Amino acid sequence: MPQIFLDGQAFEARTEQTVLQVALEHGVFIPRLCWHPKLSVAGNCRICVVQVEGRSWVEIACNMPVSEGLRVLTDSPLVREHRKATMQFITLNHPVDCGICDKAGECTLQDYHVAFNGEASISREPKVQATKFHRLSERITLDNERCILCTRCVRFTREVSKSNALGVKNRGDHSLIRPAEGDDVRLLDDDAYSENIVDICPVGALLSTRLLYKERVWYLQATPSVCPGCARGCAIDVWHRKPEWKLRTLDARHNTAIVRVTPRDNPAVNGPWICNKGRDLALLLERPRADAALRKGRAVALDEALAAARELIGRARHPVALVSSWGSDEELAALDDALGDRFTCFVKDDHLPADGEVVEDDLLIRADKNPNGRTARARFGHQALQFAPDTDLVLVWGEGCDFGRLPRGVPVIFLNAFLAAENGHAEVFFPTSVHTERDGHFTNADGVRSAFSRCVDRPTGVVDAERVFRALASVPAGVAP
Ligand code: FES
Repeated sequence: MPQIFLDGQAFEARTEQTVLQVALEHGVFIPRLCWHPKLSVAGNCRICVVQVEGRSWVEIACNMPVSEGLRVLTDSPLVREHRKATMQFITLNHPVDCGICDKAGECTLQDYHVAFNGEASISREPKVQATKFHRLSERITLDNERCILCTRCVRFTREVSKSNALGVKNRGDHSLIRPAEGDDVRLLDDDAYSENIVDICPVGALLSTRLLYKERVWYLQATPSVCPGCARGCAIDVWHRKPEWKLRTLDARHNTAIVRVTPRDNPAVNGPWICNKGRDLALLLERPRADAALRKGRAVALDEALAAARELIGRARHPVALVSSWGSDEELAALDDALGDRFTCFVKDDHLPADGEVVEDDLLIRADKNPNGRTARARFGHQALQFAPDTDLVLVWGEGCDFGRLPRGVPVIFLNAFLAAENGHAEVFFPTSVHTERDGHFTNADGVRSAFSRCVDRPTGVVDAERVFRALASVPAGVAP
């Protein structure tokens, strides 16, 4: 293992590492814009310059291999001079419109400008104007004036998502990021991972069209969660309003809405990426919600609904439960503990692949569109649903049940988070929480257990399925009149 020296301090390095990687691994700061840990080295931004001791010039650290005894200065006067010149060059034609830029608050260029330049532009020439609000795809808007041509987005589509959707067109200060084939934007539209380029853009050039000018990042907080969109269970951050920035608005949903979803780096599951479906979690979880317990379609208090369910369970001799594959590890355990020995249980798929959705690929997306099918089946078995002729009660938990296939005339207890016609058809109905409204765990298809935390409060009237199961525990057969 070669030993190198950064600012006079010795560090052990691995042969295949660059100076930048060794520095980052040991907490030595070197700025970088075009370099990304999961992409190839482009070496085009030049902000990562360092000085080898004894040399009178600077070189880029992101492409400098380590060698035994290499001595590097990361913050010498020459390095600082070049960093400042580089920042002035990069921002030569930049509009510096941070006040209206969605990236403000998390923009690397803004941070580096303050840290390494901090002065107005020295250029007296008019700035070269480029395309603003260029529709790169259905989801992504490109501001070419803010783009520093680091090509992270181009490399992402070539090396990670492999859609080859983007390239650089023209030369010099006329260079533009554009769809790789003429003006055909379909490649990026069809890229199921395209919105990762918004995250990895180090400036405010690539923007989510859906969020354009809708939020400022300092009003939001990120809560660690798990994407329920498939059995991969990607680690995500769910962004929502900070309590101190709740809006006094006529529509209180603004205060509990999921504003955006970003990947949370988890090398064991998804690395730094997620697919676009994960970004659209709000569309899935913010469908109209059920918020009242029902008995034969009539709104009742929760206690009355629980009493009615207990009576049905007490009467039943051969009850069947259809178990949700969206239930958390804790909820599945609660159902098993409470009713597992009374009910014959079958695990159902709450969600199946939607029309046009990528079913499976070799990056992240799994064919099973449910986050916890593995735990559910480990607990309740893999048997296919089959109703015995003497079935006299069905408990349905979650979506994905075709009520037309349930045995006729048999009472149904139904737990569901969303408004649906079936809610009123059940003998007893419980409106349940979604996973962003409680703490818990999902275990993905590979057996990795991931925690999710409560992001927002449960709507009034909504109850956790776990609480319902515990309240229904220990109802022996034959107790009801
Ligand atoms: Fe090294 Fe851009 S980070 S040249």
